[in-house]
Amino acid sequence: MDKFVLGKPEEYIQWYDDEGNIINASDGGVIYVDGKYYWYGMKMREGGQGYGEMTTTGVVMYSSEDLHNWHYEGVILKCSDAPASDLYGPLRFERTKIIYNKKTKKFVLWTHYVKYPGVHAREIGTAEAGIASCDTVNGEYTWHGYVRPVDNRGAVKDSTLFVDDDGKAYFIYDRVVGQPKAPDEDRCIHIVELTEDYLQPTDNYRRIEAAYWREAPCVFKHEGWYYMLTSSISGWNANQGKYCRAKNILGPWEDMGDPWVGDTDGTSFHSQGTYVFKAGDQWIYMSERHNTENFVHCSAIWLPIEFTGDGTLQLTYQEEW
Ligand code: GAL
Repeated sequence: MDKFVLGKPEEYIQWYDDEGNIINASDGGVIYVDGKYYWYGMKMREGGQGYGEMTTTGVVMYSSEDLHNWHYEGVILKCSDAPASDLYGPLRFERTKIIYNKKTKKFVLWTHYVKYPGVHAREIGTAEAGIASCDTVNGEYTWHGYVRPVDNRGAVKDSTLFVDDDGKAYFIYDRVVGQPKAPDEDRCIHIVELTEDYLQPTDNYRRIEAAYWREAPCVFKHEGWYYMLTSSISGWNANQGKYCRAKNILGPWEDMGDPWVGDTDGTSFHSQGTYVFKAGDQWIYMSERHNTENFVHCSAIWLPIEFTGDGTLQLTYQEEW
């Protein structure tokens, strides 16, 4: 394959690895190391909602030199067989992200972690920031447990990582306090600076009001602007995308509206963002079309980000490119 094939907005196109197996690395990201791209994400189980969106395998990785031909590297964060382990499956390692720490020379992974049996809730263990690290990008990551940033209170939902030019790293997540659907429920994207080793949150954080009641954050920096693409909150059902921008990573952030061209039904062309990475001079938006009939058949919706001047951007859906 030398093209990205996305198909029609209601289609579930599969991408395959070099052994002919479906690439099953959900809601992850891509990291470029020594001439290779490494694509990682949670390996979904066969099945539909309430089953397939969990894993009993863990986080898996694929590598490629050209973004088209992918080779399966294996499981980098493994589920455990021991019922007492944090890693006992089925569980969720949703929205896993990996960054490199130049000082410690370690690859650091953060994930939205939901312990066995993988049911989203508010109690400790059911909505956390899980942390792991490794000396090599594609090795077996060591689990360091989980935290709730800010004040040990807010539940952690969708999340991402971002490293700034000065080497400081940030965990960006949908922070939830209050009871589900009750009037006091509050969900807002927060950004938290990490410690120098990237293994813990610091006390330096901001609430990003421009991303109130948003999730699936994807953050990157281009020509002096920080951008964050987000979705609204409607479970696995796709909804309207938005983005915000800032001149300073800690804000203020400015709501810039829907980046999609021609999104007439407000579904982001039936997708939800997972990450943004750079390939050469091209920023690529990685998104996913969730297949709630069988999560193994989710599809990758990758598109080039178009910059439209004055710090604005847009996304144009293409069936292939
Ligand atoms: C979505 C979220 C996904 C997953 C799903 C579960 O809103 O973006 O990562 O948590 O809900 O219903």
